[in-house]
Amino acid sequence: MKQELETLLQQATAEITIASSEEALQELRVKYLGKKGALTTLMKGIGAVPPEERPAFGQVVNSVKDQLEELIDATLGSIRAAAKAERLRRERLDVTLPGRCKPLGTKHPITLVIEDICEIFAGLGFQVAEGPEIELDYYNFEALNFPKDHPARDMQDTFFVDDNMLLRTHTSPVQIRTMLKHAPPVRIIAPGTVYRCDSDATHSPMFHQIEGLMVDKGITFGDLKGILTVFVNQYFGKNIGVRLRPSFFPFTEPSAEVDIACVICNGKGCRVCKNSGWLEILGAGMVDPEVYRHVHYDPETISGFAFGMGIERIAMLRYGISDMRLLFDNDLRFLSQF
Ligand code: FA5
Ligand code: MG
Repeated sequence: MKQELETLLQQATAEITIASSEEALQELRVKYLGKKGALTTLMKGIGAVPPEERPAFGQVVNSVKDQLEELIDATLGSIRAAAKAERLRRERLDVTLPGRCKPLGTKHPITLVIEDICEIFAGLGFQVAEGPEIELDYYNFEALNFPKDHPARDMQDTFFVDDNMLLRTHTSPVQIRTMLKHAPPVRIIAPGTVYRCDSDATHSPMFHQIEGLMVDKGITFGDLKGILTVFVNQYFGKNIGVRLRPSFFPFTEPSAEVDIACVICNGKGCRVCKNSGWLEILGAGMVDPEVYRHVHYDPETISGFAFGMGIERIAMLRYGISDMRLLFDNDLRFLSQF
């Protein structure tokens, strides 16, 4: 029996010493010290030991058990320590290394133009208003005095969602939404995205406009011209050429379009200005009494003007960009210049 115990101790010691994982150790613990383990089985054979030798035998078994437990715990300790050391080595950080720089983006030129224009008009007492990009036919056309089947609807090639809904073709529906919500006086600008089935160097299917609307007692065409002149001078400087041309919109009467001298060619004529030397930046006019009827304003007591400008055209003139599509290509070499 003693001999067997001796062998068991040697064998177990050898196996425990080379165990390399917590799981392996756990298995060894079960194998030798568990309920059906080797040592326990030996203990059960105590009946075969002569009675006078039993206490001594019991002592030896206990001492073997203690030795094995100690050895297992010690080995477990060193396996854990090694694992921790390895993890620390792997996760080692050199806090003295310089950080990795995240390159800062720049604002898109369209965003810059919108912010600058809104700031100028805020200085003139205008508040910013907004409306949905998916719009009802009613706000985009009907209430702006484009009756169904009216030929003026062809001025803007429309993307329809269904019979009643469309992608707004201009920011003018925000005029209607604003006047329906607020009694006069109103003085708002409304920047936003608009959509038309249109595409070349100066036309994009998705583009941006800023709508302006000012309604109060005694507003005249002179106020419109004054506000637009202040705006153009503040934004482009005093020397830029500006001209107003008579025009037509169903929701304004009289109507005008405003052109700015083409800065790409200095008025000589180029692809951007279609050789005219001028680039149209906005449409404007005095709000038509028919529009007031839809929003329950009384045209006998109030009057007002509205305008809608194309942001991309203004960005092109401001930054000397010769093709509108550059604004939508998301080319970082282009965008990072702003
Ligand atoms: C309108 O959209 C009218 N709602 C403007 C208006 C508002 C008139 C209030 C009167 C009162 P128009 O379709 O001309 O008008 O467009 C206005 C401006 O948007 C143009 O002067 C031009 O600068 C710009 N624009 C028009 N179509 C495009 C396009 N496809 N891509 C980029 N800019 C465009
Ligand atoms: Mg036009």
